Amino acid sequence: MGPQPSRGSLRTGDSTDGEIGLVEEKFVVTPWEVTGAVDYDRLIQQFGTQPINDQLAERLEKKLGAAAYLVRRRVFFSHRDLDLLLDEHSKGKGFFLYTGRGPSGPMHIGHIIQFYLTKYLQDTFGATVYIQITDDEKFLEEKRNLTYEDTQRWAEDNILDIAAVGFDPNRTFIFQDTKFIGHAYPMVLKIARRVNFSLAKSVFGFTGETNIGFSFYPAIQILPTFFEKRRCLIPSAMDQDPYWRIQRDIAKSMGYYKAAAIHSKFMPPLTGTKGKMSSSKPETAIYLSDDDRTVRNKINRYAFSGGQATMEEHRKKGGELDIDVAFQWLYMFFEPDDEKLADIVGAYTSGYMLTGDMKAILIQKLIAFLGEHRRLREKARGKVHEYEKDGTLAQDMWKRDFSKS
Ligand code: TRP
Repeated sequence: MGPQPSRGSLRTGDSTDGEIGLVEEKFVVTPWEVTGAVDYDRLIQQFGTQPINDQLAERLEKKLGAAAYLVRRRVFFSHRDLDLLLDEHSKGKGFFLYTGRGPSGPMHIGHIIQFYLTKYLQDTFGATVYIQITDDEKFLEEKRNLTYEDTQRWAEDNILDIAAVGFDPNRTFIFQDTKFIGHAYPMVLKIARRVNFSLAKSVFGFTGETNIGFSFYPAIQILPTFFEKRRCLIPSAMDQDPYWRIQRDIAKSMGYYKAAAIHSKFMPPLTGTKGKMSSSKPETAIYLSDDDRTVRNKINRYAFSGGQATMEEHRKKGGELDIDVAFQWLYMFFEPDDEKLADIVGAYTSGYMLTGDMKAILIQKLIAFLGEHRRLREKARGKVHEYEKDGTLAQDMWKRDFSKS
């Protein structure tokens, strides 16, 4: 059995409001589970992070160029010490970027957003980027039932999708845990000795049934935050934050900086606005490998619509944007142009635009995006060796003596 998410620290949303007798909707966010309709304001409170306020958003937007809309629209909505990191940067102090991927299956469009943000941050700030591929984590996560070979296959496959994003080959290190962690083992030990079981248990909900590999794993996901003696900025979905919380507890005693983080929301699954897309349920997601026909079929068949039941009703009342998954996807990633998005909002809520029209717009965007992705992915095949071992940063990493870190 896998770990049980703990109540209190990570499980949220199961309280009742006695005074007015409302039962709040239940949602769960842990590194292994995202279910229910996530209340992001409450998540910020529960996790003890900061919302990205207007002032910080504006500051960041100026630096982000084409990716500014991801912050403006609060797809990235929460952070730790991002303001501090920008202050330090304006005083000439550099930082580095760290993100990752658990290779449990094919990557879908929800997975790629954090890599795009990371790439834009690299382009803007000239920062080094470390990308951890956690084949170990996905092998240890028993409920996934993956064989070791499965995790190796998905690692190779996912690395190509990530390489397609176009990171700087001399400033980016992509590493697969089962291949690289042995090299960094001395430093993993220094981390592991500082995290006791009761902390790990309260943060991750480990139980007596949790396998011991899994209980050790947090040390490995924390490791890259100590790859440089500068502040680390981690773009990730909100569910990964528990690791950064532990990192921040031990950073000082390690002689390193507390990590800064920027957190994204979850792209809703096609089938409705609750939970997140799943690598193992094809109807909930568009995979980066889906062909044009699959995209059309999935969107037309499964995309949960905010349209009204009949045409007359729709013309009269208009569509509901909050629950319309096609719209949510355009908003979160596929329609960066604010004016075009505003036109869509106007046309849909007034009842002029129908569900089929909304889906057609999304289909066209998806097909264009995935076509380009396929092209870049093929081109990236020849670059993987640079990210993994031959680029400047990769070479440094393989040469480093981690017993001296
Ligand atoms: N645990 C993450 C996953 O399951 C993978 C990961 C490792 C990661 N390090 C990271 C994600 C840093 C974001 C940032 O997908």
